Amino acid sequence: MKELLAHELGMVYQVPKGEPVTALHDVSFELEGGRLLTLLGPSGCGKTTLLNVMAGFLAPTSGGVFLGGEPITGPSQDRGMVFQQGALFEWLTVAENISFGPRMNRVRKGEYNETVDDLLETVGLQGFGDKRVYELSGGMQQRVALARCLANDPDVIFMDEPLGALDALTREKMQGLVLQLWQETGKTVVLVTHSVEEALYLGDRMFVMAPRPGRIEKEYELPFAKIGLEVEPRELKASPEFIETREEVLSMIWDMEEQIMGGSN
Ligand SMILES: Nc1ncnc2c1ncn2[C@@H]1O[C@H](COP(=O)(O)OP(=O)(O)OP(=O)(O)O)[C@@H](O)[C@H]1O
Ligand SMILES: [Mg+2]
Repeated sequence: MKELLAHELGMVYQVPKGEPVTALHDVSFELEGGRLLTLLGPSGCGKTTLLNVMAGFLAPTSGGVFLGGEPITGPSQDRGMVFQQGALFEWLTVAENISFGPRMNRVRKGEYNETVDDLLETVGLQGFGDKRVYELSGGMQQRVALARCLANDPDVIFMDEPLGALDALTREKMQGLVLQLWQETGKTVVLVTHSVEEALYLGDRMFVMAPRPGRIEKEYELPFAKIGLEVEPRELKASPEFIETREEVLSMIWDMEEQIMGGSN
């Protein structure tokens, strides 16, 4: 599995008639292949910018990112992205959405049809291949988005608030699916979330980011994702260890929010 490496990343947005915005400052890390990294932090701390740089959608203004030692200079199939919502092709069926990548790559129909059926099963949508996207609930649409991403068999999957638009119950179920997919595929996953609980539950590593300039404030190695594969989510989230870490991270983020509010008043 390929290591993902960020070296002294910086991203400064030039704003017409305004001060430049330093969205990322001196961000460096090494992420071993097969880890599930969560990025947590207040709005505007550069989470999406960091994902977009790693996905190759955005060129950093300094430093670089590397996958398996190769510099990332643009989008590629070895890196997939799942967005919060609305990134599916509405006019295509579920199966057509999932097979979009393979079809673009001219994979033969017989070959990708098999993949689509497997993927539908993997994400719990057996029998939904012929449905249109608008016929599905938000949770089901995110399952399709996951399947579509997996269809390209990427090394790394980036997810920007993939569960952010879902109701609490659906969200909890989908968290289980993310953990299960991570375990079954062995892929590297980098997931952005606003939810402290979600970041702790899913991340086997977590970066808490801070704004102005956007940077990694604190890093955690976390045990919960691996335990979460075996223990009931509610039980795990109610355990003393989980609650203790959650409160620590929450107060760190509250302090940040206070500083931000203080700074802008
Ligand atoms: N295209 C752009 N041009 C100018 N400034 C930008 C641009 N994109 C982002 N920014 C600024 O860069 C900073 C980081 O933005 P980014 O979207 O990466 O944050 P985020 O952590 O993903 O926030 P959120 O949690 O709200 O999604 C913010 O101050 C934002 O206003
Ligand atoms: Mg964002």
